[in-house]
Amino acid sequence: MDEAGAAGLRPTLPEWAIVTPARREHIERVAELAARWALDMGVPENERHRWLRAVWLHDALRDAPDGELARLAPSTPGPLELRHGPASAARAKAEGETDRGVLDAVRYHSIGLAEWDMVGRVLYCADYLEPGRKHEREWRADLARRFPSEPALVLGEVARARVGHMIGSGRPLLEPTVRFWNSLVAASSASS
Ligand SMILES: [Fe+2]
Ligand SMILES: [Fe+2]
Repeated sequence: MDEAGAAGLRPTLPEWAIVTPARREHIERVAELAARWALDMGVPENERHRWLRAVWLHDALRDAPDGELARLAPSTPGPLELRHGPASAARAKAEGETDRGVLDAVRYHSIGLAEWDMVGRVLYCADYLEPGRKHEREWRADLARRFPSEPALVLGEVARARVGHMIGSGRPLLEPTVRFWNSLVAASSASS
């Protein structure tokens, strides 16, 4: 990314991040997508900044050693790979991040949360729809294009895919994921 492009995606990775170069590229693509949506949706600068803070934080500890993740997120249920969100949220909070919506977006980005504000919804969708992921490219690109005009519909589609994937892999659904999914079903049946 050139310098002007990088500046437009401020902030950037926190200095305590532990990520591989490939991970950093994923995070940059998520930031680019979220920034494009912010522009298309005409959100104010401070809201855009909240989206980007969550993006830069979400996988900041994705490649940290297991011991570090366990120390920062000792009570996270489920497999170890689900600890990086809670661990990063804990670290960000310790470093002075106070925005509840940003912290919840980061903490629950792998599993979903019924109470999310727009930050959590944007991160959950952009993380999944960024163009670097290999499978179902056209489907992803189409949903990424539609997010600014139909965010609730796209969130529902992304959740259907992500929750479906968890079920398909035989993993149990954690309680926040069940509540998240049910909240989306309730919202869509109320609006139809
Ligand atoms: Fe992640
Ligand atoms: Fe991610």
